Amino acid sequence: SSNGSGEKERTLGIIKPDGLSENAANFYAEHSSKPFFTNLIKYMTSGPVLVMILEKEDAVIHWRELIGPTDAGKAKITHPQSLRAMCGVDIEKNCVHGSDSHQSAQREIAFFFKEAPSAFKTEAVRKHDE
Ligand code: PPS
Repeated sequence: SSNGSGEKERTLGIIKPDGLSENAANFYAEHSSKPFFTNLIKYMTSGPVLVMILEKEDAVIHWRELIGPTDAGKAKITHPQSLRAMCGVDIEKNCVHGSDSHQSAQREIAFFFKEAPSAFKTEAVRKHDE
């Protein structure tokens, strides 16, 4: 520390809304030319999000099946038991995200999470990474 005492000090940082929208724009870079891009970024930065890594055999497809179709409005009719049918509203406010492939999942996880030290990884994750 600056006074040389070795004591820890705390500081305060805030990521302001424009910082979050830059992140969202990077996360969805592949959709930047789509007509809905501005709305998607507005929606994704309209409040806090909870990001999680979900792990099981064939997690990508199973999570996609659980969340249902992109358009939550249609999901209410075709997949009423899906998460989007239950908690989403329409094609924009569809309440949850799921990576669309193994490759997307790896890229998206790396976007949010730093590599965990291998000592903290479960045997399953170590095997999966190999
Ligand atoms: S595409 O064009 O097939 O690649 O798009 P799709 O995979 O259906 O959707 C990509 C993400 O954009 C969101 N989306 C929208 N947001 C707002 N308005 C409209 N009309 C719209 N259409 C698609 C959609 O929820 C996807 O977000 P993620 O987080 O990837 O599920």
